Amino acid sequence: MTIKNVCCLGAGYVGGPTCSVIAYKCPNIKVTVADLSKERIAQWNSEKLPIYEPGLDKIVKECRGKNLFFSSDVQRAILDAELIFISVNTPTKNIGNGKGRAADLKYVEGAARLIAEVAKSDKIVVEKSTVPVKAADSIMKILRANQKQGISYQILSNPEFLAEGTAINDLLNADRVLIGGEETPEGQAAIEALCGIYENWIPKSKILTTNTWSSELSKLAANAMLAQRISSINSLSAVCEATGADISEVAKAIGCDTRIGAKFLQASIGFGGSCFQKDILNLVYICECLNLPEVAQYWQQVIDMNDFQKTRFTSKVIQSLFNTVSGKKICILGFAFKKNTGDTRESPAIHVANTLLDEGACIHIYDPKVEESQIFEDLSHRQNIFVYQDAYSATQGCHAIVICTEWDEFMILDFNKIYEGMMKPSYIFDGRKILDHEALIQIGFQVQTIGRKL
Ligand code: NAD
Ligand code: UGA
Repeated sequence: MTIKNVCCLGAGYVGGPTCSVIAYKCPNIKVTVADLSKERIAQWNSEKLPIYEPGLDKIVKECRGKNLFFSSDVQRAILDAELIFISVNTPTKNIGNGKGRAADLKYVEGAARLIAEVAKSDKIVVEKSTVPVKAADSIMKILRANQKQGISYQILSNPEFLAEGTAINDLLNADRVLIGGEETPEGQAAIEALCGIYENWIPKSKILTTNTWSSELSKLAANAMLAQRISSINSLSAVCEATGADISEVAKAIGCDTRIGAKFLQASIGFGGSCFQKDILNLVYICECLNLPEVAQYWQQVIDMNDFQKTRFTSKVIQSLFNTVSGKKICILGFAFKKNTGDTRESPAIHVANTLLDEGACIHIYDPKVEESQIFEDLSHRQNIFVYQDAYSATQGCHAIVICTEWDEFMILDFNKIYEGMMKPSYIFDGRKILDHEALIQIGFQVQTIGRKL
């Protein structure tokens, strides 16, 4: 079966970029990205896209109106499509059973019910959202219980592995594409149909097909293992600070071992982003439900270590500033959870800023891509927060600078000029290890960083 018409429910960080790349690489397929939020769709149809992602603008401009459409007419999009991606949000539940840990599947269920209500022809429904193992079973039950005569459904799992800030490159040059489905002839045919889309640009050898449950679990496992590396290196950063070892040297030494590998060993103020924490909590919850408390505790430690790192870093800032920041001006450089994105979900900068505000500090914030309104939405305080449009005015008159995001532009700032405008002694806390610490000390700064005693 050759797919000609695809739709995606959810025009977020995953649905938008993923479907833009499908449209870009498959000119013969009509791709419609549909969302219940009219506002989000209007942004996708405007000059200023709702998300910042390097390379995305160019692709959207090239395909929009040709074979890529953004629409709030979700029903129409479902009716016309042969294959439907479900790319809706799956946040952590905040009420009821599993509160604070289990994934809330209400949006996935909502999407499945909508498909069941609207569909008038056969559909391949592809779970792209990150979900607990066995979620495809629930989607299948909803679809088949509401099945109209003559219509058949196939459910596939096709988790997304893109990282924000590098999404377009990750999609164009994916390490692998994973597709799970039923082991029946119909299930295999559906897998083949989805493979046919990706084969337009991904080598066949990189398209892995598995059973549905392996595919669902692999997504949670990949995020858990990635986050575990960060927690491991961050735990060692505390040992470095206490002993005089340098975490960058340690990371390099261990990363040279090809069995360990050099990537994802950057010590930091802790990982952020919408997924690592939520997906590990989800894994922990699944393990508890499966009566595997030891496995649950093992993965919980990855989160606990991340919380420890965030708290440890912020405590260090306060202790260094004579144990009081009350009335002091502290500049936070970077508010996004990583560079090259405007996304602030679970950003460690939020923890740092809220703690300093709790202690009575006045916070100056500059981030190249985060909107002022977003910063105010994220913080629990309303006062003593000032947002600036550049790093020089943000640091003016401050007692300390805290680097929370590793934006490239922070590395080339004129720190001589910044030093002149600051209160003395002037402190820099480099939570991302991106600055030249010796040069800063030469200028006169008091410098602290992660994983190295200065
Ligand atoms: P998001 O919040 O940015 O976008 C989800 C969108 O779905 C929202 O715009 C919402 O309005 C829409 N929506 C909800 N119900 C709908 C429905 N019934 N019909 C149409 N639209 C509906 O979320 P996201 O960051 O794109 O994440 C989506 C999923 O992908 C999550 O499960 C996440 O874990 C996973 N994921 C995210 C990333 C990432 O980098 N953000 C990477 C890999 C996987
Ligand atoms: C992560 C995964 O990398 C993706 O493969 C996955 O698809 C995605 O989650 C998801 O499921 O949402 P993302 O959160 O966008 O992607 O970004 P990462 O590059 O993984 O960074 C996550 C956090 O870890 C950031 O705060 C980053 O600064 C931090 N990090 C990353 C470190 O502290 N050290 C590192 O070495 C790497």
